[in-house]
Amino acid sequence: MEKMPFRDAQSVTNLQAVIAAARSSETTTSDWKQALPVLTGSMATLRELRLSDAPSLLTMLSTQEVARFISPPPTTVEGFERFIAWTHRERAAGNYACFAVVPHGMDTAIGIFQVRQLEPGFGTAEWGFAIGSAFWGTGAFQDGAELILEFAFETLGVHRLEARAAVLNERGNGALLKTGAVQEAILRKSFLRNGQYLDQVLYAIIKDDWYASREVSRQVHACIH
Ligand SMILES: CC(C)(COP(=O)(O)OP(=O)(O)OC[C@H]1O[C@@H](n2cnc3c(N)ncnc32)[C@H](O)[C@@H]1OP(=O)(O)O)[C@@H](O)C(=O)NCCC(=O)NCCS
Repeated sequence: MEKMPFRDAQSVTNLQAVIAAARSSETTTSDWKQALPVLTGSMATLRELRLSDAPSLLTMLSTQEVARFISPPPTTVEGFERFIAWTHRERAAGNYACFAVVPHGMDTAIGIFQVRQLEPGFGTAEWGFAIGSAFWGTGAFQDGAELILEFAFETLGVHRLEARAAVLNERGNGALLKTGAVQEAILRKSFLRNGQYLDQVLYAIIKDDWYASREVSRQVHACIH
C-alpha cells in the first residue's frame, strides 16, 4: 500500500469513520426500511419525517384549501406526532415511505410526499402529496416529484405508480399531469369527503415511460446548455 505522507493512518481511519457515519445518517442508505435516504433537489430536500415536524405540518396542511380534496389530516400537533410515528412503523414494515419536503435554507417541513405499496414488493404502488399553500407554484412540488419518482422507480422497484385526484381538484390534476402521469379512468363516487362522494381521476406512470421521458428531457437539457 502506498505510504501516506503528512498524516498518520489512525487519523485517516478516524476521518473515514466520521465521513461514513455522516453519510449513513445524512445522505443515503442502502436500505430504506431502516431509514429513508435524504434526497436533494435543486430547491428542496426530501427527508424522513421527524416528530419535531408536527407543528409546521399542522400549520401547512390543516388549512381548508390544502385539506379540501385529501383524506382529512390530523387537527392537532399530537395528532401529527401520532401520524409521524405511524409513518416510521409502516416504513420499517416495508409497506410505505413518507418524506418531508424541506426547502433549502429552511429546517421545517412544508409538506409531504408519500408512496405506499398496493401489492407486496411495491410492483404497483400509489403516491400522494400535499404542500402548504404558501409554497404552491414555487417549484417545490416539481422538485419533490422528480425526487420521489426516482426513488419509487429506482429504489423501491415500482413498475406502475398510481395516483388518484378528485376531479374537482384542479391544482392536483394539473400537478399530476406535469409529472407525466396518464389519466386512465374516472372512479365514480369513489372518495367520501365532507359527507359527499366525489369522482376521482385514476392516473398512472409506468416505469419504462418514465425512463424514456427522463432520457428525452436530459437530451433536451444537454442541447440547450
Ligand atoms: C397538489 C400540490 C402538491 C401541487 O403543488 P403546486 O405547487 O400547487 O403545483 P404546481 O404549481 O407546481 O403545479 C400545479 C399545476 O396546476 C395548474 N393549475 C393550477 N390551478 C389550476 C386550475 N384551476 N385549473 C387547471 N390547472 C391549474 C398550475 O398552473 C400548475 O401547472 P403549471 O406549472 O404548468 O402552470 C398542491 O397544490 C397541494 O398541496 N394541494 C393540496 C393537496 C392536494 O390536493 N394534493 C393532491 C391530491 S391528488
